[in-house]
Amino acid sequence: MKYGFFDDLNREYVITTPLTPYPWINYLGSQDYFALISNTAGGYSFYKDARLRRITRYRYNNVPLDLGGGKYYYINDDGDVWSPSWAPVKKDLDFYECRHGMGYTKITGEYGKVKVGITYFVPLNTNAEIHKVVVENKSEKEKKIKLFSFVEWCLWNALDDMTNFQRNYSTGEVEVEGSVIYHKTEYKERRNHYAFFSVNAPVYGFDSDRESFMGTYNGFHNPDAVFKGVPTNSIADGWHPIASHCVEVNLKPGESKVLIFLLGYVENDPEEKWEAKNVINKKKAKKMIEAFSTEEAVDKAFDELAKYWDGLLSKFVIESHDEKLNRMVNIWNQYQCMVTFNMSRSASYFESGIGRGMGFRDSNQDILGFVHQIPDRARERIIDLASTQLEDGGAYHQYQPLTKKGNNDIGSNFNDDPLWLILSTVAYIKETGDYSILDVMTPFDNDESKSTPLADHLKRSFDHVLNNLGPHGLPLIGRADWNDCLNLNCFSSEPGESFQTTTNKDGRVAESVMIAGMFCHIGEEYARLMEKIGNKEEADRAYREVKKMREVIMEHAWDGSWFLRAYDDFGRKVGSHENEEGQIFIESQGFCIMGGCGLNDGKAIQALDAVEERLATKYGIVLLNPAYTRYYIEYGEISTYPAGYKENAGIFCHNNAWIMAAEAIVGRGDKAFDYYTRIAPAYVEERSEIHRLEPYVYSQMIAGKDARRFGEAKNSWLTGTASWNFVAITQYILGIKPDFDGLKIDPCIPKAWDGYTVIRQYRGDTYRIKVKNPNHVSCGVSKITVDNKEISGNILPLFGDGKLHEVEVILG
Ligand code: BGC
Ligand code: NOJ
Repeated sequence: MKYGFFDDLNREYVITTPLTPYPWINYLGSQDYFALISNTAGGYSFYKDARLRRITRYRYNNVPLDLGGGKYYYINDDGDVWSPSWAPVKKDLDFYECRHGMGYTKITGEYGKVKVGITYFVPLNTNAEIHKVVVENKSEKEKKIKLFSFVEWCLWNALDDMTNFQRNYSTGEVEVEGSVIYHKTEYKERRNHYAFFSVNAPVYGFDSDRESFMGTYNGFHNPDAVFKGVPTNSIADGWHPIASHCVEVNLKPGESKVLIFLLGYVENDPEEKWEAKNVINKKKAKKMIEAFSTEEAVDKAFDELAKYWDGLLSKFVIESHDEKLNRMVNIWNQYQCMVTFNMSRSASYFESGIGRGMGFRDSNQDILGFVHQIPDRARERIIDLASTQLEDGGAYHQYQPLTKKGNNDIGSNFNDDPLWLILSTVAYIKETGDYSILDVMTPFDNDESKSTPLADHLKRSFDHVLNNLGPHGLPLIGRADWNDCLNLNCFSSEPGESFQTTTNKDGRVAESVMIAGMFCHIGEEYARLMEKIGNKEEADRAYREVKKMREVIMEHAWDGSWFLRAYDDFGRKVGSHENEEGQIFIESQGFCIMGGCGLNDGKAIQALDAVEERLATKYGIVLLNPAYTRYYIEYGEISTYPAGYKENAGIFCHNNAWIMAAEAIVGRGDKAFDYYTRIAPAYVEERSEIHRLEPYVYSQMIAGKDARRFGEAKNSWLTGTASWNFVAITQYILGIKPDFDGLKIDPCIPKAWDGYTVIRQYRGDTYRIKVKNPNHVSCGVSKITVDNKEISGNILPLFGDGKLHEVEVILG
C-alpha cells in the first residue's frame, strides 16, 4: 500500500494523506541553518548544532504523535478554524498534499473553498527559513480570513530547555516591533545571538506568550486566540515565549494573496550587541527581512536552491530501464547522503539532537557517499574529524558541531574508529586527485601545539590496529567495533557497572574479526596511497601487515563455512557454529571479503552462500542468526534487544551494502542487485503499510525475521546505509569507481540487463559512459573506447579539458 507517489520530474515525493503510518519528514537547509519538517508541519529548527543552538522547541515521543511543536498556520474563516497542514487542528481537509523535495517542503490544504499552500525552505547562504504562504479564495463569495502563524521558541540549549525549567520559566524575553517578533532570551549575559519571526505585511495583532495565546489548559489544536479570532498582543515575560502573527486576509472570489514569513537567526559581534539599553541590535535581522520582503526575491531564492540541486545531482546520473533504480541513484540516495553528511547522527525523528553530535565513525563513512557532491566540504570535514584524533591514533567517538571538540562523555576506545579516517581520506583523494590534503597540519585532540600532517594521522590510524592486537593476532575490539552493541569486554566490569563500560580491564582479550577484515580492506588502500605518494618503504610495510592479517584471519577466523565474528574476553568464539545462538554474523562476511580474504580458495563464496541461507530474508539481510533469545552478559548490549530488533538480528541496512559489495567482488551480479532491491526505498514503497517509514530514504533498521513486526522499519534518515548503499550500487554494481589515477570501470550487474548509461562529472571532465552487455554476463570488461579510441585497461584517461567524453564499455 502506498501513501503517495514519486514525482521524479520535480524530484519530489508527494504524500497524499496526512495519516501516513508515521510522520514522514524532510530536512531544510544545507550549510549552517537547518530544520526538520514533517508532512504535517511538525519539527524544529537549529543553527549548526541541534543541541546547543536550538531555535524552536520540539517535544519528543509525544502523544499524540508529532504534535510536539512545529511551524504551524491556522485559518479562521468566519469562525471556522483549520490548518492547511492538517495538524495541529486536524480538521478533515477537502484536499491535502505534501511535497517533500530537495531542501524544501510544500504543504497544501484546502477547506471551505479556501486553499492555502505553504512552501518551507532555507535559501542558500542564509540563516533563516522562508515560509511562503499563498492563500486563495476558490469560492464565489468574498472572504475575510484571519491567518495565524505559530512557532514556539526553544531557550537555545535543547537539553537545558527540557530539564532546567525552575530557571527557564523566568528567563524568556522577547521584543516586538511592527511585524517582527524577536526572541532574545539570554542575550544580556554572555550570548550575542537572537532569533526573529517576521511577516511582510502589517499585522492585525500578535502573541509572544504561549499561555496568553492558547489558554492554560489548551493545546496546539485549540488555541484561544485563534478560535476567538483575536490575538492578545501578549509580551512574554519568562514562561514560554512564542511567536504568532495574526494577519487579516481579505480575498475577492478567485483572488489569491501571498505572505512571506521569515524565521531567522542572528549572531552579533559583542560590540554591535546593543542598539540602546536592553534593546537588541536588529540591523542584521532587518537586512535579512528586507532581502526577502517580496515574492520575486523569494521565488528567486527558491530557483537558486533548485539550481544548486541541479548542480549537485548532475555529478552522477544513470539512465537505465529501471525507473526505481534511476530515482534512487539520481535523486533520493544522493539527497540522503547530503543530509547524513550535514547531520551525522544528531537530529532526526529518532535522534533527539541532544544525545549525539558528529560521530567519528559515522561522519567518515558519510563522506563516501557525499564526496563527489561537494569535495571541498568533505575535505574540511576530514580535517575536523582528524583534529579530534588522539595521539595514539584512537579517536573521540563523537564531537559537538558547534565547538568541534571531542565529546568526553563517550570518550574513545571504539577500535574500528581510526580506520574509517583512512577510508574517507582515500575516497577524497580518489575523487579529486588532491594529495595536498595529506600535508595539512592537523592537531590531535584539537590542541594546535600538537599538530602533524594529516598523512601522519593516517599512519597512526593504521598503527592503532597493529598496536592493539590480541592473542590470536587479531585486532582488539575495545569497547566495540562498528557494532556498538557487541561489548565483549563487559563481563569483567564491576558489579553494578552498566554493560556500557568504557574501561579496558587488564588482561582483556576480546578480538574483532570485523576490524581484521576492515584492516585488510582499508590497510590495502593505505598501502596503495603510500605507493602513490612515493613512500615505498611505508607502502611495503603496510602491504606486509595486510598480508599477515589475511593469514591470521584464514588461520584463526575461518569457522568452516563462514568467518567468525570475534573472540570474547575469555578467548571463546563468537559467531561460530559452535555457539548455541549468534552462530553467524553479517559484518565479518562483508568486510573479510572486501578485504580480499577467501577469494582464491572458494571460501568467500562459501561464506556468501551461508549468508544467503541463514541471514537473507525477503526484506533484507539480518545481522546475525540465530537471534539471541536471552541476555548474555559477556556480549553486552546486543543481547538486550528482543530477537529480530536492532543489532540482535534486525536487518541493519547499513551492512547489507557490504554483502552487495562482496557479491560483486566474487562476480555474482544477480545476487548483488537482488540484495540492493530488497532494501532500497523506492522498491519498498509498495509495502509502506508494513515498512511504515518514509519510502524515499533508507532506515537504519528493518525488523528481522525473528521479530513479530518483521519488515517494519525504524530510525529513518541518519544512517550509514545512505552512503554505503550509494557506494554499493554506483561503485560495485554499476562499477563506476573513482581510483587514484582516474575512473575505473568494473561493473557487476544482473545478467539479464542489456546495459545502461552513466553520466559522471569527475575532476572537471564529464564522461558519458554507455555500458553494453551483448553477451549477458555479469562482469568482465572486454573493450572500452573513449571518444571512439580503444583504451587498454579499465581506467578512463583524465583529460582536464572540461569537455564531454564519450565512453563505450562492452562487457563479456
Ligand atoms: C544502538 C546502536 C547505536 C548506539 C549508539 C545503541 O543502543 O543499538 O544502533 O549505534 O546505541 O550509541
Ligand atoms: C548506529 C551508529 O550510528 C553506528 O555508528 C553503528 O556502527 C551502528 N549503529 C551499529 O551499531
